[in-house]
Amino acid sequence: MKRIIIEGNKTLSGTIKIGGAKNSAVALIPAAILAEGTSVIKNVPNISDKDALLEILNLLNVQVTDEKNALIINAKEAQNKLITENLSNKLRASYYFMGALLGRFKKVEMYFPGGCNIGSRPIDLHLKGFEALGAKVKRKKSKYIIEAKELKGADIYLDFASVGATINILFAAVLATGKTVIHNAAREVEIENIAKFLNKMGAKIKGAGTETIKITGVKKLNGATINVIPDRIEAGTYIIMGALIGKNLIVDGVNPNHLKVVLNKLKEMGVKMKINRHQVILNKCDKLKAVNVRTVVYPGFPTDLGQPVSVLLTQAEGVSQFEETIFENRMGHVPNLQKMGAKIEYERQHAIFYGPNKLHGAELTATDLRSGAALVTAGLIADGTTIINDADHILRGYERIITKLSDVGAKIEIEEV
Ligand code: EPZ
Repeated sequence: MKRIIIEGNKTLSGTIKIGGAKNSAVALIPAAILAEGTSVIKNVPNISDKDALLEILNLLNVQVTDEKNALIINAKEAQNKLITENLSNKLRASYYFMGALLGRFKKVEMYFPGGCNIGSRPIDLHLKGFEALGAKVKRKKSKYIIEAKELKGADIYLDFASVGATINILFAAVLATGKTVIHNAAREVEIENIAKFLNKMGAKIKGAGTETIKITGVKKLNGATINVIPDRIEAGTYIIMGALIGKNLIVDGVNPNHLKVVLNKLKEMGVKMKINRHQVILNKCDKLKAVNVRTVVYPGFPTDLGQPVSVLLTQAEGVSQFEETIFENRMGHVPNLQKMGAKIEYERQHAIFYGPNKLHGAELTATDLRSGAALVTAGLIADGTTIINDADHILRGYERIITKLSDVGAKIEIEEV
């Protein structure tokens, strides 16, 4: 395992370049299997989740050329094989191979996906979607066998606007016979990025990004080229850091339209930002106002920034209320922040922050990707040294985070322990 060490109170000045969105890339890569040809995915973030997905493509006899930020994927000779437990457990997004293999080969055998420990994270809505399209789902311990003689378009109503289920059903429906409508679909911008890729392959998808997505099945898909959209969660994390300890910090390569609710919340706290087409430029805000934050589905405040924004709440003057409504176990950062001197009362997914509190360095443990990002954020403003154990979680979703932060003045390093 790796650990990160940070000497706090170093001002962040300069430019941080945002990479491609993890939660887009991890779906675009399996999507390439749907095409009987060569696809090119550009602006792919250099994160460990990408490597795990390429291992699965390799297993399925898909030719991949990894040109750093661009992937050339030839799925013409793709073979349908059992995706082993150790591969599928490496990340949550392995479950996108369910929809992709079912869509292409009408059968998939794989194990239950892995991912951050932020809740039970069932896939019942994914499986209900596959069954609605005519697939039979069999489960033997933690192995799923899903197959269909034919996939036929259907009206699918999601009990919850699940990002993963929306995308997985899209993958299974694009090559089905007839029309599919997904009602109460997730509206995250990453879904529009994926639908654009599939449509460029020859799929017929309308309404991506809205709560109703209509798909007309086609016979075959061909390779296509797609750019991964900027990572709004990576960008939001660095913008939060800028609000805490930035001096003319330039967060570059952002799409501010993907962060409207987050930027508005920061403005509500008193953060001043210069926002242009591709950049957010800001300084440390000396007088942060207490606010309430409630994480909800897109376009509301994203659950993935609930943990990083909590660090801002520890510095705000007054009482801030925080509620996580998407996952049932996403407060792993709170005990760590308390250890650094933050005054927080919390129960289940609700927390009350009493600020401001000067944080001091401590030895901490990252429980998941975004709690790890919150601990890095706290370490940057704490007095003294902060050690973050289990830092591998962080590398799953933040490409080159040590370099990006060191290049703007942070005193941060990573070591193997
Ligand atoms: C995606 O997870 C993202 N992961 C998450 O990002 C993100 O937090 C989440 O969407 C919400 O935006 C990837 O894209 C790889 P959901 P996903 O299906 O698809 C419940 C990060 O930090 N649910 O919208 O798993 C589920 O338990 C990660 O980058 C069911 O009950 O999210 C959860 O409580 C974390 N049954 C809620 O819905 C299902 O079949 C949201 O899940 C599916 C989901």
